[in-house]
Amino acid sequence: MNSLVRRSVQQLNRWRTYCVKHNAPEAASPGRNAGKPIYEEFIGRHQRQAQCSIVVQVSSEKSYAELYNYCSYFGSILGAHHYCVRQDETLHYILLEYATPGEAAAAIGAGVTNGELSGVPVRSPFLWFRAAGGGRRSPKLVPNPAPALLSLDGTQLVDQGQLLGLLRGAADIEEQVLQLYEHTRLNELGIRMRFLAALQVQQAIAGMFPAAQAQPFGSSVNGFGRMGCDLDLILRFDNDMGAKSPVEAAVPSRLVYHTKENLSNGRSQTQRHMECFGDMLHLFLPGVCHVRRILQARVPIIKYHHEHLDLEVDLSMSNLTGFYMSELLYMFGEMDPRVRPLTFTIRRWAQTCGLTNPSPGRWISNFSLTCLVMFFLQHLRQPILPTIGALAKAAESGDSRVTEDGINCTFTRNVDRLGFRSRNQSSLSELLLQFFEFYSQFDFHNRAISLNEGKPLSKPDHSAMYIVNPLEQLLNVSKNVSLEECERLRIEVRNAAWVLESEVENASVPEADGQELSWGLLNLFKHPEKAVIRPNMFFKPRMVEVSDLFEQKEAGATSSSTAPNQPAITYKSASVRQQVQSIKAATRSELKQLRGSGSSVPTNSPKNRRSSR
Ligand code: GTP
Ligand code: MG
Repeated sequence: MNSLVRRSVQQLNRWRTYCVKHNAPEAASPGRNAGKPIYEEFIGRHQRQAQCSIVVQVSSEKSYAELYNYCSYFGSILGAHHYCVRQDETLHYILLEYATPGEAAAAIGAGVTNGELSGVPVRSPFLWFRAAGGGRRSPKLVPNPAPALLSLDGTQLVDQGQLLGLLRGAADIEEQVLQLYEHTRLNELGIRMRFLAALQVQQAIAGMFPAAQAQPFGSSVNGFGRMGCDLDLILRFDNDMGAKSPVEAAVPSRLVYHTKENLSNGRSQTQRHMECFGDMLHLFLPGVCHVRRILQARVPIIKYHHEHLDLEVDLSMSNLTGFYMSELLYMFGEMDPRVRPLTFTIRRWAQTCGLTNPSPGRWISNFSLTCLVMFFLQHLRQPILPTIGALAKAAESGDSRVTEDGINCTFTRNVDRLGFRSRNQSSLSELLLQFFEFYSQFDFHNRAISLNEGKPLSKPDHSAMYIVNPLEQLLNVSKNVSLEECERLRIEVRNAAWVLESEVENASVPEADGQELSWGLLNLFKHPEKAVIRPNMFFKPRMVEVSDLFEQKEAGATSSSTAPNQPAITYKSASVRQQVQSIKAATRSELKQLRGSGSSVPTNSPKNRRSSR
């Protein structure tokens, strides 16, 4: 008991240190957001940075000093980041940030087209630093010592072995969660590169659409993105995102642009525009390759790869709710320093056990999973997050946002107005365990999840999983999730709760008896080797031997409780082992009953741990 109390105090201290380091509000009063940039400020700052930046391909990082000297001619350089794109060979790039957009424009304006290639002479922030001597006379340089690079190979993903080593060496699960977050989240350079990709698209059409805006949204900017995540981009020809200026709102202009009327309905018009725009990207924009048009989807998109940024981009033109949803998620992430590390860990866990998949399908998406985490944090006895309904109620006139198709995305952008203060002091490891326990008991059959209300509602249809779309409340965010995948989720959260409970209850980190020490999150991510109940018990084609799990174990139970070919689980706590065994026994008998009744799909789920207590 003493050791548990001691550990809680240690965790609280670690969390407080983490809050201070991340400029978070006092650990004693999580939930306040004072002093944090609001989303539009965050977006605006990065957009300006992009306007001040250029990306130059170099032969290696050793060219930096020379490049710095050369480019200092056009203005004052605030900082430089080096990164590599690894294809057949490794390509090197340096992102330079000038003090003003004018200086970056001067550097771009001084570029020349590559006479050796018969390419389209498009000007963009993507340049190449050729060897001295070729082409024009170089500007006269005053030797200028280059300050150190702010990043070297700055987009390199942390090596899996290194990450496992870090997690192994952490003091406790709390620290593992924080390490995972720190070492896998999208870094500053990654964010800068994504804003540059957006700016390139915007500038490409600025001649005809000077008010056009290309805005990143999704995990690239909401604080839930990991290194290497895709860029979701929305392009609007007219700047209709964000707040209207007070003058614009109060005194509408009497001068109205003549415009071409849409010849068909809105959706097919958008598809037509996107088709045309896809051609433009494909034919003219440097770095853009593998352009694919997915125009029949609910939200039509153009996908492409950016070879100078090593980035996958999904560009849409009609998904403003997605943009505002990112703002909501950003706000949630800013409200409490536990929200993002917790979500990262859960997203990582879901990835390792195959619940999520980068391609869309009948499985849960990262976005839906993130909604599950947010809902859990709203629904706690002492909530960590407010409801979206409360955010909407606290809105002022400047918060009004309505999309062109009339969807109301109005909610307060100033969380302080809510007066929401969480008294929840749980550690990250406690929250993680509570998350798994919460969803192992959640009645997905009958209940829908509403982030607007922060409580479950009756399910309005027969979808396997129902998450009310927070901004379009008649839609279900997780409509795509099949019954099978929902069942897998329920089983996996239960497995995770079992694994984690045995980890959390064990006060001390086991001593390493070799290289293979595995504890805490490592056991949670150790999938599928871990011998807990396997998913897919009930469904084809993923159905494998339920009997492997129960009957074979029963047969061998006299000598060992482990089925052949399954590694044994070592429970550090005898009480957990006992609980697991009693639940397995209950599940076995339910399975027998199900078999007896001839049903292939269970109408009642196996009893969970809590209810068997
Ligand atoms: P990863 O790309 O997997 O890292 O996560 P993501 O959060 O970027 O998800 P995704 O690319 O699928 O979606 C991008 C963003 O669009 C999300 O962050 C949401 O803001 C928004 N979004 C996605 N699906 C929906 C939806 O069904 N409703 C609403 N309102 N927004 C959505
Ligand atoms: Mg995304």
